Amino acid sequence: MIPLVDLQAQYKAIQPELDQALLEVVRSGQYILGKQLALLECELAFFAGCSYAVGVASGTDALFLSLVALGIGKGDKVVTTPFTFIATAEVIVRCGATPVFVDVDSNGNIDLNMVEHKMPCKAVIPVHLYGNPVNMTELMKMSSMRNFLVVEDACQALGATWDGKKIGSFGHTGCFSFFPSKNLGATGDAGMVVTNDEQVASLIKKLRNHGASTHYMYDSHGLNSRLDEIQAAILRVKLKHLDEWVKSRRELAYLYDSYLSGIVTLPPDIEGHAQNYYTIQVHDRDELRQYLAENEISTAIYYPLPLHLQKVYSYLGYKKGAFPMAESLSEKVLSLPMYPELPEEGIIVICDKIKEFYQR
Ligand SMILES: Cc1ncc(COP(=O)(O)O)c(C=O)c1O
Repeated sequence: MIPLVDLQAQYKAIQPELDQALLEVVRSGQYILGKQLALLECELAFFAGCSYAVGVASGTDALFLSLVALGIGKGDKVVTTPFTFIATAEVIVRCGATPVFVDVDSNGNIDLNMVEHKMPCKAVIPVHLYGNPVNMTELMKMSSMRNFLVVEDACQALGATWDGKKIGSFGHTGCFSFFPSKNLGATGDAGMVVTNDEQVASLIKKLRNHGASTHYMYDSHGLNSRLDEIQAAILRVKLKHLDEWVKSRRELAYLYDSYLSGIVTLPPDIEGHAQNYYTIQVHDRDELRQYLAENEISTAIYYPLPLHLQKVYSYLGYKKGAFPMAESLSEKVLSLPMYPELPEEGIIVICDKIKEFYQR
């Protein structure tokens, strides 16, 4: 069986370091808002090229608390794409604002030409889908001209770059998820906000801890959204390997590209792509997926139904046909196994089976 992601292989590769880090936290007796988190925040801010990083309980909370800290709420319009994980739009609704969807380009990232048609708006959430960076130079230019805030959904894109600069560091905030299958995965849920705005960082620090300014003193309501010490210690160990892992992902993507060129539509060959998911576009997607499953190869569909057609957003009034590219991609995308420890022989087996399917 070739899995989509092999977290046990990753654990085995760095087991002594992880076991040691875990044990140290358990023995320390300090489990919440301690030394490990403070160190992780410094290290991640440095990695992302930002002045501040604030650890929270998930990528979803990183997005939600960013919106709240930036003052987005009732009556505000927030533009994003319907071809993303639900969390991107869910947080807009949760803070009282309205999601305004725009279509994506042929790679699944927000179509910046379409954003222009939705002005004015309070904020835009670009999603760096599959680890593929959005053109942030262009978006930030629009943001200053049109006066909107930018919250980067970089949940799939830690380690990605645009124009040599880390994704997450362009927007007013950048949001990362450490869900286990991400490029940097915890052993549970965790997330992080990065920003260069000191006030936003300190507000999110309060909000993640029930709004407390100091011990048991509250200026506002917040959440219980803390990144715990065990997760922080594990993430610190893994962060040291992240550059090398992203490099391996890129090399594996090139291997896939070389075997699948001319057979399927390949993911974009963009410098700075972090390759969280290696996603091809094919016709007969469901049949191919079934064929690969019969041959013990796991795949995934991110995402099978765009958000504007989901029942939960029916109140927004979008109809089928509103976003043709997102709708077409949802029928064609297929993510293949991708993890740094995936051996070349595995890729050859997968690609041979894909070729076999199209030759039948
Ligand atoms: C694009 C995107 N946004 C947001 C999230 C939410 O992150 P989390 O699962 O850590 O809450 C994810 C995670 O799957 C994601 O892929």
